[in-house]
Amino acid sequence: MTSNLPAWYPKQPPIYDIHKTYLENAEQGPFFEGRIPERSFPPKEKWIDFLGFPVASPIGVPAGPLLTANWIALAGKLGFDIPIYKTIRSAEHPSHPLPNMVFLDTHGVIENDKIPQTATLAPLPSPHIERLAVTNSFGMPSKSPQFLREDIARANASLQEGQVMVVSVVGTVREGSTFIEDFIKAALLAKESGAKIIEANFSCPNVDKSEGCLYMSPTTVFELGHALVKAIAPTPLIIKVGTFSSDVHMHDVFCAAAKAGIRAISGINTVSMSVMDAQGRPALGPKRPTSGVCGGPIREVAFHFVERAAQINKKGKLDLTLIGVGGITLPEHFDQFLNAGADIAMSATGMMWDPYLAARYHQKHQTT
Ligand SMILES: Cc1cc2nc3c(=O)[nH]c(=O)nc-3n(C[C@H](O)[C@H](O)[C@H](O)COP(=O)(O)O)c2cc1C
Repeated sequence: MTSNLPAWYPKQPPIYDIHKTYLENAEQGPFFEGRIPERSFPPKEKWIDFLGFPVASPIGVPAGPLLTANWIALAGKLGFDIPIYKTIRSAEHPSHPLPNMVFLDTHGVIENDKIPQTATLAPLPSPHIERLAVTNSFGMPSKSPQFLREDIARANASLQEGQVMVVSVVGTVREGSTFIEDFIKAALLAKESGAKIIEANFSCPNVDKSEGCLYMSPTTVFELGHALVKAIAPTPLIIKVGTFSSDVHMHDVFCAAAKAGIRAISGINTVSMSVMDAQGRPALGPKRPTSGVCGGPIREVAFHFVERAAQINKKGKLDLTLIGVGGITLPEHFDQFLNAGADIAMSATGMMWDPYLAARYHQKHQTT
């Protein structure tokens, strides 16, 4: 990369326009008018293996901010070597109405053992990107299978040697098929469209049981995971998870994942909180009393997740690849996660508000 990358946050706008709808962002975005930094790739012997694919660096963008091939192409050019295509479904699905993203005050950093129940709407973002706190609530919208087949192929083709795209998928409750069948249908749609690696979003609600998320049950992780692994073989499967209340719980889920043939675990997803306005009413309207918090305030929880996950993986010889996500907004945060045991580190909120985040990381690693 060339030196002196321009400053971005907070003067420049994010590449996702939070005042526009999801569809407007998908169709008109990404909103980036900066220059593309020059990249000098490290020599191939320094590349790493990511689930069978050689990649030039261990950094990427998790499922969410990269809405279409145009977004994937930009992320690749900006130096994010493992971009994930936003979670898709087996059929077209609408987004929640605006607002989808708002700035928050989480009243400090969220600590692992005391996740607060409530965050308050903030009129302005923190001036410091490491404290940038947002919530997102989209309802996992998806384009039609016809659109996705072409767009995923285009997204793959936009990347350079040393980069690989993952496609994230999720199941939907529909008449005429079981949840597992629909999950598999979405995964096969991704595979047929050219996905080289698939991530299953297991941090969505468990529809068979009223409480909790899919990833929280070792039995569900094994059964659904195994069914997906079998359906998409030999394409590698990652699962996306959230926080665990204890090491024992995390251990049981990781063992179930390894037994199912799942190759990698990505965590964490956003941390769910009640988001209130100044009057104490749900900030996203009465139908959405809680939403996922991302950005700076969850970095501590995510870091702790990575440390514990790495220990469990090593001790149990589970051989899972570990992807650390949550609150990475500065280049050194990638290093912190990687040094704590993550094989790969990714940033969603950080890359949206500072598109040069990967370039800053590469620059740092070229000169050290
Ligand atoms: C705009 C946006 C959309 C997201 N959509 C998804 C999604 O569709 N599927 C998913 O697994 N995670 C989704 N996420 C969660 C991110 O992948 C990530 O786990 C979370 O934001 C924490 O990382 P961060 O602090 O770097 O943002 C989304 C996040 C953002 C910011």
